[in-house]
Amino acid sequence: MGYYGMATKDNLEQIVSKEEIQKRVKELGKQISKDYKEKKLVVIGILKGAFVFMADLIREISIPLQIDFVRLASYGNLMQSSGEVRITKDIELNIEDKDVLVVEDIVDTGLTLQYLEEVLKLHKPASVKICCLIDKKERRRVPISVDYVGFDIPRGFLVGYGLDFEENYRELPGIFKIIPGYEPEGFIPSDK
Ligand code: IMP
Ligand code: MG
Repeated sequence: MGYYGMATKDNLEQIVSKEEIQKRVKELGKQISKDYKEKKLVVIGILKGAFVFMADLIREISIPLQIDFVRLASYGNLMQSSGEVRITKDIELNIEDKDVLVVEDIVDTGLTLQYLEEVLKLHKPASVKICCLIDKKERRRVPISVDYVGFDIPRGFLVGYGLDFEENYRELPGIFKIIPGYEPEGFIPSDK
């Protein structure tokens, strides 16, 4: 079974197992439930990458919440976020006076989230916080604050658990690193 002629499963190295993810998602859910007690929580997922993480996370949150999604498209090279982002699917709920928690797969340069946060604030929510599965904070170009982080993984191109390489591998239950040399064209690895 081929993966459209690119990296195969042999080129992947598992770095976070399904069990480790499950444990961490439980902890995040517990913390969020505590922090948002008595608040009007709206969880907004960024499609497509965050959908698996968000589906698990909301089921570990024990307080009432609503969900919505946005879909963003970057004008720049997919591997090097240009910061020129546009919304191709907007939120549908009214978030005025609500406490918004944005769920993202990976925060890399931070440009995508910086833009989204600005746009969401135009809707006058009571608060906006960010929860990401993976933080690549060594690669940050703008000082965005991430409030909840699943895992700090500074190096490598990652797939699985919703994350893709040219739309493949989203279905894998763990998080995998593409072994060096098989990463997407244009990917600039962090040398730290
Ligand atoms: P940035 O923070 O604006 O640079 O953009 C981060 C986005 O780039 C994420 O939402 C992912 O879609 C994508 N991305 C960055 N690193 C990876 C990776 O290792 N695997 C898959 N997608 C990635
Ligand atoms: Mg993304």
